Amino acid sequence: MAAVRKPVIAGNWKMHMGPVATGEFFAAFARAYQPDAGRTIIFFPPAISVTAAREALRARGDIAIGVQNTYWQPKGAFTGEVSAPMAREAGATYVLAGHSERRHVFGETDQDVARKARAAFDAGLTAVVCVGETLDERRAGRVDEVILRQLDAVLEALTPEQAADVLVAYEPVWAIGTGVNATPEDAAAAHGTLRRRLAERLGGARAGLVPILYGGSVKPDNAGTLLAATDVDGLLVGGASLDPAGFALIAASGA
Ligand code: PGA
Repeated sequence: MAAVRKPVIAGNWKMHMGPVATGEFFAAFARAYQPDAGRTIIFFPPAISVTAAREALRARGDIAIGVQNTYWQPKGAFTGEVSAPMAREAGATYVLAGHSERRHVFGETDQDVARKARAAFDAGLTAVVCVGETLDERRAGRVDEVILRQLDAVLEALTPEQAADVLVAYEPVWAIGTGVNATPEDAAAAHGTLRRRLAERLGGARAGLVPILYGGSVKPDNAGTLLAATDVDGLLVGGASLDPAGFALIAASGA
């Protein structure tokens, strides 16, 4: 089953890289990473750098761009927010929904995340739904409960067709930006839990096609091992995606 899922390697730049740095990054990355039809590469720059990213990637149709967050209303008096249709118009095709920093720094609820994912699909974007437990939740044996609650909230808000098109990212909160990645065994266990729930909701055949990415302290030297773990179909990379040469290595890992 794994063979039918093309690896997805994604870089989440968080609040790094304005438009100028974005152009410089892609000039270097395009030299370091050659197109590979066997994998999907996605970058999530800050929204203000999406246009610069598209411009820099004119000759690289193999690299997709997403935004890190969108609001669920298409337009209106929501100062500071960016909508999914606007992100789409600027050239984004993906959006992260429910990244742990959105949940834990900005207080987004499961309901907010579900609304955002729904609005993304309604605007023609593909949502990458991020789920993950905190260290306290892991220590309390609540990993499955937490990640399934987060996943269910989104799936319930989507049409069956939209639900079949989601990408899921398992990102344990304690592994993000800490240098402590999940072991391949821990990742495989959580991904298996998510895949089983997707199968209950979508049917086994469709669930088998949903890419489930691992994120949390992925680096060039652990990317291959994590990507080889059962049910791990891709990687969502934060800090290590800011270095073009290092991320080119991650993007090609296991190929
Ligand atoms: P990290 O972040 O790779 O820096 O741990 C991952 C993420 O937040 O997506």
